[in-house]
Amino acid sequence: MGASATPRSVIQVSRIRKTYGATVAVSEVSFDVSEGEVFGLIGPNGAGKTTTMECVEGVRRPDGGEISILGLDPFRDVYQVQNRIGVQLQQAQLQKRIKVWEAVDLWASLYPKPMDGNRLLEQLGLADKRNALFMTLSGGQKQRLFIALALINDPEVVFLDELTTGLDPQSRRAIWDLVRGIRDRGKTVVLTTHLMEEAERLCDRVAIIERGKIIDIGGPEELVSRHCPTRAVVLATEDALAEERLRAIPRVETVMRRGSEFTIQGQGDDFVTEVIQCLSENRIRITYFRTVLPNLEDVFLKLTGHSIRD
Ligand SMILES: Nc1ncnc2c1ncn2[C@@H]1O[C@H](COP(=O)(O)OP(=O)(O)O)[C@@H](O)[C@H]1O
Ligand SMILES: [Mg+2]
Repeated sequence: MGASATPRSVIQVSRIRKTYGATVAVSEVSFDVSEGEVFGLIGPNGAGKTTTMECVEGVRRPDGGEISILGLDPFRDVYQVQNRIGVQLQQAQLQKRIKVWEAVDLWASLYPKPMDGNRLLEQLGLADKRNALFMTLSGGQKQRLFIALALINDPEVVFLDELTTGLDPQSRRAIWDLVRGIRDRGKTVVLTTHLMEEAERLCDRVAIIERGKIIDIGGPEELVSRHCPTRAVVLATEDALAEERLRAIPRVETVMRRGSEFTIQGQGDDFVTEVIQCLSENRIRITYFRTVLPNLEDVFLKLTGHSIRD
């Protein structure tokens, strides 16, 4: 028979629910995470991402529902689970005056078989900050330290909550590379983000959460083609016959014209190619060309009726 091609499921969440007083933070949330994937919980602030993640980590107890992680119960088997997962700290959880190496040593002392802290610091580009006080680190350096601490026990599953919030674009990219590196070493990553670009670039699959509920789950591209299949080409041409020719493309839905600029909308993976073929076959000379492809932001808008930034 050989090895199965189906990846092992490492997290199963079934209909969990968590309320704080009158606030329903998480309601009937279910999802599975496979070994080796980067799974994202995405949605606006207050959607219930952190609560969901903390329930899976065993930090919060849901009011109802079932959670299994690495075949274990995050509450009943808390000790085993904690040894096999890595959780990113929040800012306030480290003392301002702790030195980088002290934090790493302290975290290493919590686990039976920790990784080499110096090597981890090197891998995360923090070797020259070993003696720096935590409070003197930049935002990106702090986040890299949190990743180092989350990896100190060589965990099988790593949880990262809003990892790049507040970082500049360059630090954000550096952190994305680190997360891909973690995945490439065979670990499973569960992350939360309200940044759709981050989700698109990092996640193999995402669950879109709003008001404590999952609205849909899938790969970023899968969700885009499911909910926002229309794409557009914007081009400029002085060709008098262009409009007629463009309208004749089989999968075109609309052609809008403003002076010499055309916006052509249609569906399907081959739509852009068909526009290019039409231009080429009819020798239409263009002075400008760009595609407008829908993304997860558009999916969110479509599914919820409002922008994730509202
Ligand atoms: N400890 C808490 N006590 C009371 N309400 C909370 C607590 N933690 C979160 N909430 C509320 O639960 C909802 C979901 O919060 P959270 O899980 O932090 O969302 P997200 O991480 O998506 O921003 C919000 O309405 C939030 O105000
Ligand atoms: Mg949160």
